[in-house]
Amino acid sequence: MKLLVTGGAGYVGSVCAARLVESGHEVVVLDDLSTGHADAVPDGARLVEAGIDDAIGDVLAEGYDGVLHFAAKSLVGESMQDPAKYWQGNVVTSLRLLDAMRGHGTPRLVFSSTAATYGEPEQVPIAETAPTRPTNTYGATKLAIDHAITSYAAAHGLAAVSLRYFNVAGAYGRFGERHGVETHLIPIVLQVASGRRERVQVYGDDWPTDDGTCVRDYIHVVDLADAHLRALEHAAAGEHRIYNLGNGLGFSVKQVVDACREVTGHPIPADVAPRRAGDPAVLVASSDKARTELGWKPERVDLAGIVRDAWDFTRSQQGA
Ligand code: UFG
Repeated sequence: MKLLVTGGAGYVGSVCAARLVESGHEVVVLDDLSTGHADAVPDGARLVEAGIDDAIGDVLAEGYDGVLHFAAKSLVGESMQDPAKYWQGNVVTSLRLLDAMRGHGTPRLVFSSTAATYGEPEQVPIAETAPTRPTNTYGATKLAIDHAITSYAAAHGLAAVSLRYFNVAGAYGRFGERHGVETHLIPIVLQVASGRRERVQVYGDDWPTDDGTCVRDYIHVVDLADAHLRALEHAAAGEHRIYNLGNGLGFSVKQVVDACREVTGHPIPADVAPRRAGDPAVLVASSDKARTELGWKPERVDLAGIVRDAWDFTRSQQGA
């Protein structure tokens, strides 16, 4: 297929673009490089360095079989401080994309949605049938886009799949996580191991969990990418399917820090800090629907293995 990957110079987008190229697809990356990196675009993919708002019409006019839409603002804290950036950058921009796809008859869409659309869960593991009550603007904007996609699919025959990611981690060779502002646990802990940060703060040890720290569902970015390839194949005209993607296994912050100590051999000093606003105690996905309908199964479920791939990437970035 000829595929457009928006945000394909970012973390998840670049890994997906690489897997798509390897699977024989023709891949064009559309990325304004505001947070992505040109050298993260895989060999064999063409980079169009532009924003969706400026370029989507001209690009889609070339004719595509589908779009994988990763480009987004994705910092939860920032979304609360500067909501306009998120409503504009995520919702308005995605509506432009949907309209351009309709105008040019682009038949398929795979969209990067998020566990943040659910908010504080009533039940864990979280299924796709759970109520969607986002507790932050980031999640609210992603949910709004999901709603828009549902109506475009119903009205205009778009074949659409939204994938709701839980905690994406790990790396794929030279494709990994390198954000200007890092807020995610595993890269932060690895920054301590690589000497770029003194200590890690554990946001609360009095949560109602086994060891008192928050539990999250870490999914390897390569497993996540493979779900995108399956989603492309299973997308059906006029339908908007939604799938949660996680390991189904929860790991606590303490377990993550311990795994990083084990993999890196670094003591990684950690301090207990106050709880971070808006954090739920436990977020674990039920991925039963993706397993049944997409035939997807996460293969890289071992936490140490996930951390090892992220660590290899971190060291390669530092030339260490
Ligand atoms: N944490 C720390 N110290 C840190 C960083 C994080 O203790 O320095 C803790 C957090 O409190 C949380 C866990 O580590 O309990 C994971 O935090 P992340 O920031 O890595 O990830 P989140 O679970 O907050 O966020 C992830 C995605 C978001 C998405 C959200 C869905 O990264 O994009 O899940 O709920 F919105």
